[in-house]
Amino acid sequence: MSEFKFHAPDEYRKNAWIKTMDEYKQMYDQSIEKPEEFWTQMADQFYWEKRWDSVRDYNYSISKGPINIEWFKGGKTNITYNCLDRHLKDRGDQTALIWEGNSIGEDREISYKELYEMVCQFANVLKSKGVQKGDRVAIYMPMIPELAVTMLACARIGAIHSIVFGGFSADALSNRILDSLCKVLVTSDGVMRGAKAVPLKGNADTAMDLCEKQGHLVECCVVVNRTGSEVEMKQGRDVWWHEQIQAQSMDCPVEWMDAEDPLFILYTSGSTGTPKGVQHNVGGYMVYTGITFRYIFDYHDNDIYWCTADIGWVTGHSYIVYGPLSQGATSIMFEGVPNYPDPGRFWATVDKWKVNQFYTAPTAIRALMAQGEQWVEKYDLSSLRLLGSVGEPINPEAWKWYFKHVGKERCPIVDTWWQTETGGIMITALPYAIDQKPGSATLPFFGVNPVLLNEEGKPLEGACDGILAIQEPWPGQMRTVYNNHERFEKVYFQMFDGYYFAGDGCRRDEDGYYWITGRVDDVINVSGHRMGTAEVESALVSHKEVAEAAVIGFPHDIKGQGIYAFVTLNVSATPSDELLSQLKLHVRKEIGPIATPDIIHFAPALPKTRSGKIMRRILRKIATDEFDSLGDISTLADPEVVGSLIENHKELT
Ligand code: WT7
Repeated sequence: MSEFKFHAPDEYRKNAWIKTMDEYKQMYDQSIEKPEEFWTQMADQFYWEKRWDSVRDYNYSISKGPINIEWFKGGKTNITYNCLDRHLKDRGDQTALIWEGNSIGEDREISYKELYEMVCQFANVLKSKGVQKGDRVAIYMPMIPELAVTMLACARIGAIHSIVFGGFSADALSNRILDSLCKVLVTSDGVMRGAKAVPLKGNADTAMDLCEKQGHLVECCVVVNRTGSEVEMKQGRDVWWHEQIQAQSMDCPVEWMDAEDPLFILYTSGSTGTPKGVQHNVGGYMVYTGITFRYIFDYHDNDIYWCTADIGWVTGHSYIVYGPLSQGATSIMFEGVPNYPDPGRFWATVDKWKVNQFYTAPTAIRALMAQGEQWVEKYDLSSLRLLGSVGEPINPEAWKWYFKHVGKERCPIVDTWWQTETGGIMITALPYAIDQKPGSATLPFFGVNPVLLNEEGKPLEGACDGILAIQEPWPGQMRTVYNNHERFEKVYFQMFDGYYFAGDGCRRDEDGYYWITGRVDDVINVSGHRMGTAEVESALVSHKEVAEAAVIGFPHDIKGQGIYAFVTLNVSATPSDELLSQLKLHVRKEIGPIATPDIIHFAPALPKTRSGKIMRRILRKIATDEFDSLGDISTLADPEVVGSLIENHKELT
């Protein structure tokens, strides 16, 4: 049986930026053979106060010296100038952001001119609080326009923003503030979630207290009034957004930034240790997010584009704010959740704004698929021209449902593989040029040179299965781990000398299409959110009754992967339902609700080697019911442990 391939209808192809496979190939080859020429053409489409001296300088090999990645060196620009000022003349009155609030009927359209004024005004507030170029500003906010305004205001004056997803706990927030010593925190009183208002400022207070105990003072906390709930405002530190902006002018000159000055930090989980501060710099990130946005979503003037991500994650940074705005797009920012007030919300919203490009995550598709297609059929989705998927491999069933019921078998689906570290999309279809196969991210974007390696780091040819690595830098690549370049080198460049190691496994088929098979390290992907198993383990063992914990991912129908925790208690403690809920609560407090284990398995002991190393391979097999393929357990210090774990597991599931 030949594989299903989707070739987008000709009526869309006529106006597409890239129309055919030949065109893609020609541009791709140029981008790889003559990267400097290619990226010069791309970067020339942006405004530069001073042009660069060299397009690309890099060292990708630890054995040759420190890892170094630079793009457009010597160039001076400002990303907000490119996202706002340069559009004022031609599209000042065009809508830049459509804000779709949590409740039906609550929305706002913000033009480029208005957004420009809001950004200038808030940039002046930041300046009045002493924020200068290079200072770090933490942002802990729901999906409200002020969030985008704060990012752009920071970028305008050269401050480095560090957004912490609103679902993270006070502990997680304080760790992130401390790591980069943020001077100011911007937050809101609360968050609207479905029918209720959930407080946020209390978490911010706790986080700031924790920072103070560690000797770091957050000098100022700006609070947006979102829910009108009661909050404590600390004298001399906390101020209201609406009061602060009143006194400020709507004019704020941009700070011209070196292309390699930092733009933002975004924390992400890895195999080991605490989350890393992924640092992106101004010039390369700007060019890469703008160009990928235009080609991959085939964005044209007057289109309405919607990415459902939260700006707390990289997807929102790159494809709600920076990429779309630098291209003069109209971008929707959605505050709510897919199932409020009912599971038709996404489709009602597509219908309401006549959305042309819709970009979401497989976990959302699976959750809505489970509610039945009647929710989709209720609405007119004929405005849609393209669908996107991001965050985890999309299983063929979800792909087909999305394709059939949402895209009505006429919209191409771009399955976009990328990472917080890559800044922008790396492997994806170009909607009208590259035919799609359900579950494959298809082919590399311009300038991306992927390779599949075997365990020894040898590049594999043709159709094969291997470890995904990238051979040369691209402009959107992270430059360093904030304040810890050594960690950057170690995590991404030490494993395979001369390559960027992505952490994913991947298969390449006969057509050269890439199929991401999932992480090859101790990172799991829960609802498209990356989680280090080590982080969850360390949260668990910080509970007084826990002696040891081993956390692994297991297949989950909606979330993609769920969190399975094997927990050994201290001798004085006994397993109980109460302790089980206590442990879940404890993890929520330490990290946030997204890290809550789905299954906690109280294990009398864990399988270990004689040298004391936990055999995760065996735990993974147990959690996925693969009792027959446990492999060699004779090297265990106590092979008996395995039998009792299997018994326990069967009772639990
Ligand atoms: C990891 C990166 C990129 C924004 C959202 C996640 C997985 C991401 C895909 C995809 C298969 C994917 C990978 C990657 N992933 N997109 N289209 N197909 N897997 O960003 O939190 O940095 O996570 O998400 O495992 O390494 P992130």
